[in-house]
Amino acid sequence: MSRLVRVGEVARELGVTPARLRQLADSGVVPSERSPGGHRVFDPGAVRSALARRSSSDFTQPRWTEPTWERLLPLAGLQEDAVWRDVVVDVLQDRLSPEGRSTAGYAFTEMLNNAIDHSGAADVRVAVWASRLEIRFEVSDDGRGALHHLQQRLGLEDAYDALGELTKGKTTTDPEHHSGEGIFFTSKAVDVFTLESAGLRWTVDNVRQDQAVGASDIDVGTRVRWEMDPATTTPIADVFGAYTDEDHQFSRTRTVVRLFGIGVRFVSRSEAKRLMRGLDRFKEVTLDFTGVEEVGQGFVDEVLRVWPRKHEGTLVTPVGMTGPVEFMVRRGLPSAAQPSGTGDA
Ligand SMILES: Nc1ncnc2c1ncn2[C@@H]1O[C@H](COP(=O)(O)OP(=O)(O)OP(=O)(O)O)[C@@H](O)[C@H]1O
Ligand SMILES: [Mg+2]
Repeated sequence: MSRLVRVGEVARELGVTPARLRQLADSGVVPSERSPGGHRVFDPGAVRSALARRSSSDFTQPRWTEPTWERLLPLAGLQEDAVWRDVVVDVLQDRLSPEGRSTAGYAFTEMLNNAIDHSGAADVRVAVWASRLEIRFEVSDDGRGALHHLQQRLGLEDAYDALGELTKGKTTTDPEHHSGEGIFFTSKAVDVFTLESAGLRWTVDNVRQDQAVGASDIDVGTRVRWEMDPATTTPIADVFGAYTDEDHQFSRTRTVVRLFGIGVRFVSRSEAKRLMRGLDRFKEVTLDFTGVEEVGQGFVDEVLRVWPRKHEGTLVTPVGMTGPVEFMVRRGLPSAAQPSGTGDA
């Protein structure tokens, strides 16, 4: 948890009156706590996470208007690090902790580089919202669109399929010049990350450790937004460390099963194949079953027996299972590879 702040400060940040904020807190829309003295206090990270889940409501929409800093930049010859230096000088300056500066710089340059190298658009819109409690960024273009681009270049079925591939990491359309790391690591390094393209919105909420796919009104091009704590003390090296090995290779991933189906039941072998496709590019794959309510025998057999047998260089570890799912998974696992429990491995 980060620092706790009082009603007035959060209300100012959200552009509502303190009375309205108390109302929102009472109704549970905005999470809050009581200080030892009985005052209502807020954890800015938890507030960000709650608002991200309501990203299209009347109440949260105004957060994304009137940026502190905004530019429409021609992409020809644009250099992401030069734009980042301008953002730092113009708006961020001493707002960031050293760790916040590394994380923000990494995310910004990676997302702007994607627009430069992959979008095929004429220009890019960059916007920053900066306050004492949070910084928010947006990079958007009206180019070919990340999901359509991946779908076409990798020969995938549809944009939804492309999104599944993107969530795995090491997914790139240009392996000669790129390694498919930018979106994966950026999405894990900030508090809340969203990528919108082809009518889909992918949200990675690192405050609640949750991911979701929903609808978006962005059909053309790509819009990426992310939010973070400017005073964060988490070094970005910790984020890389969680997914790299001793040789600093990106050799581990964590794949959220729920993102690969419609609903909470995973029954068929073909769903399993879609989930596992290409994961042999990692040495260790953690499969997160959180939120999955039912799995079928064919699905489990493909994921935990057939696939690992064919790909002996990859260790597959299921986590986050409950009730009937855990039962089916335990039943389907070869006896040497029993999961370590329902929590994180
Ligand atoms: N703005 C965009 N427009 C079109 N395609 C995009 C855009 N952003 C990302 N993509 C697609 O998504 C893929 C994954 O992006 P990501 O940043 O994760 O990896 P990368 O850019 O290929 O490699 P790296 O970031 O490691 O240099 C890209 O290869 C590209 O096909
Ligand atoms: Mg990239």
